Amino acid sequence: MWWENAVFYEIYIASFADSDGDGIGDINGIRKKLPYLKEFGIDALWLTPFYPSPKVDNGYDVSDYCAVDPQYGTLAAFDLLVEEAHQLEMRIIIDVVVNHTSTKHPWFIESASGKEHPKRDWYIWRDQPNNWESFFGGSAWKYDAATDQYYYHSFAEEQADLNWQNQEVKQAVFDVLRFWLGRGVDGFRFDVINNLTVSDQFIDNPVRKDGKQDHCIDVNQPGIKRVLKELNQWIKTVDPSIFTVAEISSDQLARINSYTEDGLFDTAFHFNLGSMEELDLEKLTRDFKEMSQQKKIPTLFFNSHDMSRSWQRLAKENRDIYRLLTVFLLINRGIPFLFQGEEQGVGDYLPQQLADIRDIQAKNKYQEELILSGESHALIMANQVNRDRSRGMLPWLSNQQSGWIGLAAVNQEAKGILADYQNLIRLRKTEGPFTAIRNIKLTGDCLSYQTESLQIILNFGQPIKHSLEGNRKTIFGNGMLSEDGHWVHLPAKACWIGKEQL
Ligand code: GLC
Repeated sequence: MWWENAVFYEIYIASFADSDGDGIGDINGIRKKLPYLKEFGIDALWLTPFYPSPKVDNGYDVSDYCAVDPQYGTLAAFDLLVEEAHQLEMRIIIDVVVNHTSTKHPWFIESASGKEHPKRDWYIWRDQPNNWESFFGGSAWKYDAATDQYYYHSFAEEQADLNWQNQEVKQAVFDVLRFWLGRGVDGFRFDVINNLTVSDQFIDNPVRKDGKQDHCIDVNQPGIKRVLKELNQWIKTVDPSIFTVAEISSDQLARINSYTEDGLFDTAFHFNLGSMEELDLEKLTRDFKEMSQQKKIPTLFFNSHDMSRSWQRLAKENRDIYRLLTVFLLINRGIPFLFQGEEQGVGDYLPQQLADIRDIQAKNKYQEELILSGESHALIMANQVNRDRSRGMLPWLSNQQSGWIGLAAVNQEAKGILADYQNLIRLRKTEGPFTAIRNIKLTGDCLSYQTESLQIILNFGQPIKHSLEGNRKTIFGNGMLSEDGHWVHLPAKACWIGKEQL
């Protein structure tokens, strides 16, 4: 399938490229950047939500699934984007946010209008709340005085959860997917899809000793896989080449992979590696070994719109480490998902005051901490979970202005970093597809592995001498081959890729 060897690029539309100078990225901005994306080797784009939305969660609170938010453009502009991308042989996948809708969505407004309304059961209404907490903090239940019931929201209270037990909801979502397939999209990214509520058992979540809740009853509910299988099967019946990738809210490999088995999604986001808080080579190697054995191709990424950028988080602003991570992403068996700006080594944007924070999760954290301590401490704590960090406007121009949000930090070595990405993607295309990974080894701080024809050595530590398999020539990185060709000497924090000589 086309996606098995594709390099994906995530576009967080509001911060990507602004074509009309209003400080907000838009669809025409993406269209202008298509040649740039093509040039550095991108095969497919993932567009985060561009639908009309009150933007409580910056677009993940959708109020109309079949339209374009006027801030971002029009349906006609979207059609042109798809057409132009296809002309350049790039595909487009879109975000599908159907765990919840905005409370401004007509479905919810109707559902909230009365207990007898035919759409009442499209959402989850109860006379009494249970102890479930929202992933953005606080109770996940909101009291509605007009009808004297509570509705369930696993994220913000303005994001009401749909009831996936209701067959009409499922049909309505199929209609939405059909609408976008008709406009030529090539696949879907399913948002927090293991959170769908498919059960009517509202048992309390267990609470741990530290007072935190284990989200074990409200996610991965019994019956969810049946619903998701039906969804995937329906999509593949329409067109088997449509790609589906699941966002599973878990960093456990086994849990993530369980959503790609048996007629479920083509793949899922591997947060077990993607969202690591810091570089842990032992964990990376352990999980990498397991992922290299799994049947379905894993995704590989170190960035997204929901986490601090890998330039800070994993590479600690070290260009050499960043390069090693780039090699791992691109010269490997896996579907790389790059996040806008990472190819230029863009760094985090850190708001300096509450008024500059845009992320609802960080705003909530600030308020929670403010009660316990002062403003400066609240800001520090909020920024620790602040998803604005990766969402700064991309610094395309030297005189770039910030817009709806501040600017992402410019990397002084942006040009060299971009060249690395470009060269490695080229290498991936000439030497790949990499379908079998062998000999994964961690020796001290040096990770090595082999693809069909390449030996890859990523030295995260001090200078080393590493043995080679077979007769090889250097095709990337810096290392010095011994005269007999059995060894390569690598400087500290360096990589080396050697190709087998036949
Ligand atoms: C996903 C999105 C995130 C959003 C959440 C709720 O995790 O990536 O940005 O806030 O779902 O829709």
